[in-house]
Amino acid sequence: MAFQIPRGTQDVLPGDSEKWQYVEHIARSLCSRYGYQEIRTPIFEHTELFLRGVGDTTDIVQKEMYTFEDKGGRALTLRPEGTAPVVRAFVEHKLYGSPNQPLKLYYSGPMFRYERPEAGRFRQFVQFGVEALGSSDPAIDAEVMALAMHIYEALGLKRVRLVMNSLGDLDSRRAHREALVRHFSSRIHELCSDCQMRLRTNPLRILDCKKDRDHELMATAPSILDYLNDESRAYFEKVKQYLTALGIPFVIDARLVRGLDYYNHTTFEIMSEAEGFGAAATLCGGGRYNGLVQEIGGPETPGIGFALSIERLLAALDAEGVELPVESGLDCYVVAVGKRAKDEAVRLVYALRRAGLRVDQDYLDRKLKAQLKAAHRLGALFVAIIGDEELERQEAAVKHMASGEQTNVPLGELAHFLLERIGKEE
Ligand code: HAM
Repeated sequence: MAFQIPRGTQDVLPGDSEKWQYVEHIARSLCSRYGYQEIRTPIFEHTELFLRGVGDTTDIVQKEMYTFEDKGGRALTLRPEGTAPVVRAFVEHKLYGSPNQPLKLYYSGPMFRYERPEAGRFRQFVQFGVEALGSSDPAIDAEVMALAMHIYEALGLKRVRLVMNSLGDLDSRRAHREALVRHFSSRIHELCSDCQMRLRTNPLRILDCKKDRDHELMATAPSILDYLNDESRAYFEKVKQYLTALGIPFVIDARLVRGLDYYNHTTFEIMSEAEGFGAAATLCGGGRYNGLVQEIGGPETPGIGFALSIERLLAALDAEGVELPVESGLDCYVVAVGKRAKDEAVRLVYALRRAGLRVDQDYLDRKLKAQLKAAHRLGALFVAIIGDEELERQEAAVKHMASGEQTNVPLGELAHFLLERIGKEE
């Protein structure tokens, strides 16, 4: 039996991997432009971290974690998200003591959730995310959203929409929670069993239910925005004011509660409005989590961040018909005809590579025509042909593939010639 890839995972093959690299390159360079530094954390963590961090009443913790026991009997979990691990590292390495405050971090890597696979929903997916720890300035809320939007814009996406909400502070949430319980209690039996449990454990989660989304009780549920206290309201107003000042359009959706427990104040999602984008339209999600550092054992420290999935980003680019400017494969393909020429080609290819050029050659003993075809397939900008005659003269016949223009170049000058023509520094 042939092996198959596990459900909900995917291979990224050459042809596509260049797109991944390009997208990650743009996201990284924008992060550095905004003053964010990379952090790398392990792919698995102690299970307890996610129970605490993500929240034990969330779908992620209740249904979606890849949890296993290692040979030492420890309960470990493949990370379903990046925020709790980053906060764990922040506390463990006492980064709250660093003179750099707020600490602005970004990360990129695979996350794992046992979800029902469908278009845009995977069991292993790659998140690119940022976390800014140590400031409760609404300007940083605006910065984080601006950065996410900037990444999409820089890649050429046009049909994206920033949706925002505020969950307020603890007091506001408490008042809203009581109102939700009053609203749903008498008719909770009309909702699914998950919602019935949520009424007891975490009523806010009811608003996030996928099954009962269209139930009449949802539309009439009390809005968090009516329960924000003065401080929370003022905070939210300031965030909106900054976004407006940056010229970033947004809409407010009071039903945006997000699927993780750590949020308060600002929450947001970025959706694709491209045609044909269904269930996986949420490209990016994030928000403020002022209690999380303390929950994980650190000093009271505010935080905010987002994570976007690269799979969904690439799907949105496809849906909008955006072609990424990924580089062609090779600067030069060395075509050798005959045994002596082949020996020379081996040496020459290495020398050209050492000079900084992207170069390849034939390893299948192909005829001249087939080698030229290979050069074409690999997207070589130039071919350098050497046969007995060229060897005699210590030259290569260099052909510019796009124009067909051909010149003889001494072998010793080939690297210089190519670097100059391609516009690369020597
Ligand atoms: P999240 O909303 O659970 O938030 O995930 C963020 C993004 O990851 C989603 O908007 C979606 O694009 C992508 N995503 C989630 N699940 C899948 C999946 N199964 N397949 C493909 N893509 C998926 C978080 O993870 C938070 N840690 C974000 C955050 C950072 N909040 C503050 N800081």
